Amino acid sequence: MRIDDLDTPAVVIDLDRMEANLARAQQYANAHRLALRPHIKTHKIPSLAQRQIALGAHGITCQKLGEAEVMAEAGLEDILISFNLLGAAKGERLRALARRCTLSVVADSGAVAEGLSALFAAAGRRLPVLVECDTGAHRCGVAEPQAAAALAETIARLPGLSFAGLMTYPAHGGVAATAAWLDEAVACCARRGLEPEVVSTGGTPDLYRAHEVAVATEHRPGTYIYADRSLLARGYCGLEDCALSVLATVVSRPAPDRCILDAGSKALSSDLLGLDGHGLIVEHPEWTIHALSEEHGHVRIPAGAAGPEVGERVRIIPNHACVVSNLFDLVHGARAGRIEMAYAVAARGRMQ
Ligand SMILES: Cc1ncc(COP(=O)(O)O)c(C=O)c1O
Repeated sequence: MRIDDLDTPAVVIDLDRMEANLARAQQYANAHRLALRPHIKTHKIPSLAQRQIALGAHGITCQKLGEAEVMAEAGLEDILISFNLLGAAKGERLRALARRCTLSVVADSGAVAEGLSALFAAAGRRLPVLVECDTGAHRCGVAEPQAAAALAETIARLPGLSFAGLMTYPAHGGVAATAAWLDEAVACCARRGLEPEVVSTGGTPDLYRAHEVAVATEHRPGTYIYADRSLLARGYCGLEDCALSVLATVVSRPAPDRCILDAGSKALSSDLLGLDGHGLIVEHPEWTIHALSEEHGHVRIPAGAAGPEVGERVRIIPNHACVVSNLFDLVHGARAGRIEMAYAVAARGRMQ
């Protein structure tokens, strides 16, 4: 089948670009002796996680217990869940997952650590827990290096847990601050007789600066596999690196200065990520997808620009690739205009 024969809207992955993105990151990690632990939130596809491992990644990262279950079921062996896990409802699933793969998790408070301890105290094996650190992104994470070391000590003392290290999802552009923060946290741990075996940083925008965080042992990039318009806008990559696009059709041309695509928020999501418009139309970068309804992409066409005929097809580089993956059951892998494979997005929609 050719790309031209696909029904729309559809997600197409340029396999050559994807492979180049994966290889470049792995080579960089190898050159700097950093373990790579890709975040599968971007693709949610077990065979792509296996491809990342085959290229040299040490393990994978998942955000959700349900995503991790899908990956373990497919044979992925080393999984970090980088999200505070709370609540008895997850208990048996978490214990079962820890029996079938090398599992580690994070905590940023005594409450989370105590909940995990209650689940694992009688499990017969210790659950490795990393302390999540807020090195500047102000999402989850303990706020001070001293507090990270104090929580590390609590984790080391709690039954059923072991202290595995430090984890951060840094602010973009915050490499120097992250390096200083983690240096201090490692020193604070040392004063308490604790040595973090793993110091894990993450994110794609600063992926190629990960080695500047001297104490880091691993990095968790996610979006690097596909890239997207937000990375393009930040100057991380070129258009030729963007591997994921949403194929759409012009379904209406109500006026000379606008047209409607069959890709709305259900295909592109509403994530703007600070950008103007909801995606880059590769064939017509001068058009703006200025608004989305569920099924309609509202496009503004500048005066004087050649407008499309109804039925014309376009490729859209979405603002945020990860959320697009969560919206489609299938994505299509293509080379030189031909569809080579369809991937089931097996971990999509795993909210819990
Ligand atoms: C904890 C964590 N690690 C790694 C990543 C991957 O970041 P990126 O998609 O910028 O590569 C994310 C993304 O949200 C994350 O939340």
